[in-house]
Amino acid sequence: MDREQEAIELLKKYNQNHIVNLLKKLEGVEKQELLDQIDRIDFQQIMELYDNTKKEIEIKENKIESIGYLDKAKLSKEQREEFNQLGEEIIRSGKYAVVTMAGGQGTRLGHDGPKGTFKLDVYGKGKYLFEILKDNLAEANEKYDTVIPWYIMTSKENNKATVDFLEKHNYFGYPKEAVTIFTQSELPLVDTEGKLLISKDMKIREASDGNGGTYSSLRASGSLADMKNKGIKWVFIGGVDNVLLKMADVTLLGMAIDKDVQIASKSVVKANPHEKVGVFCKMNGHPKVIEYAELPENMAEEVDENGELKYGESHIMCNLYTIDAIEKASKEPLIYHSAFKKNSYIDEEGKEVIPQEPNSYKFESFIFDAFEFFDDIAILRGKREDDFAPVKNKEGVDSPRTAKELYEKYWNRQNKKN
Ligand code: UD1
Repeated sequence: MDREQEAIELLKKYNQNHIVNLLKKLEGVEKQELLDQIDRIDFQQIMELYDNTKKEIEIKENKIESIGYLDKAKLSKEQREEFNQLGEEIIRSGKYAVVTMAGGQGTRLGHDGPKGTFKLDVYGKGKYLFEILKDNLAEANEKYDTVIPWYIMTSKENNKATVDFLEKHNYFGYPKEAVTIFTQSELPLVDTEGKLLISKDMKIREASDGNGGTYSSLRASGSLADMKNKGIKWVFIGGVDNVLLKMADVTLLGMAIDKDVQIASKSVVKANPHEKVGVFCKMNGHPKVIEYAELPENMAEEVDENGELKYGESHIMCNLYTIDAIEKASKEPLIYHSAFKKNSYIDEEGKEVIPQEPNSYKFESFIFDAFEFFDDIAILRGKREDDFAPVKNKEGVDSPRTAKELYEKYWNRQNKKN
């Protein structure tokens, strides 16, 4: 059987007759490219993920408890200094690397381009999100007399735009040789009937498979090997959109070393029960984050004997790992979550359809689902006004307006101190 016939059999087995029709219409390079894509896609996996969208998420059977943490503001002077010293030693000796996850689509912000290229209107001139991250790293480099290797994860969709942007801005002065850009993997989008969407370029439409792909992409891209060659012992992984993110917090790092854990994370107290953040807990004795979209109402609102939210430690994408923890996470499969979204596609007549309502599923793994592979996590509770100012939505909460305000207030406070 020739290659095309094999592909047709496969597509028919998985009820993808619309792709059979497309394949028959295409010629030359386009046909070859579609055949390559069909070879690469794991249809069995996609159909299982699609079937799972019809099942309810069951977290009831598991034993869920609140999680312990240390409050940074309440550490004694001695303890804080001890942590800081431990953390500083690692960074000064070049054993620390940072990863920025910048593969998201940033749909909610409505910015045309990778999220890191969004310019926040601060101090008149404005700063790009990538520039703000660079400032934070450059500050640490200066303080600890080092150059922290910076790995940036893009998606296939936004890689070129990201690279072009950073090149154009000369990496905002960050030593270019210390920056590595790698790309995450993708999965097809599936409609409500289990049919894979077709994209404008006459291929199966794929999209980034979530930030949980960071670990395996670090490995597949050779970045993990590169870190090992450089003698990196601790790796920070953070998001692209928090303008108060501290990527080299020596207290967090020192605490993780002191507690002899493989993973650590900075949290802030949840602003209200329904804030759109993941929350930390322990599930069956292992660390876990339950994402906002999956947190049952009663858990979101549950309070402890002090009247504080029982699940109130928010995951702010400020995570730290030993290099061994990254290696381990890169080899274990993560579960996929599905999100029902609006995705345009090409219909059987070859016309583009731009849906007004959600029409298809996007499958994503989440960075924090790897926490369950570990026995423990050290959590440092930071302060919202110092640590968390996300740019998520066009307007309202977590918007450029709120982030600008928090950013400027923070820097005004810092400048007064100095
Ligand atoms: C995320 C967290 C949530 C946390 C909140 C805090 C996850 C799954 N959720 O939610 O727990 O409380 O931030 O602000 O982490 N990204 C990729 N590739 C992808 C998808 C996302 O690199 O395929 C990156 C984004 O560029 C961004 C980060 O991951 O830096 C978070 O993605 P986003 O979709 O914005 O997550 P939230 O829903 O805001």
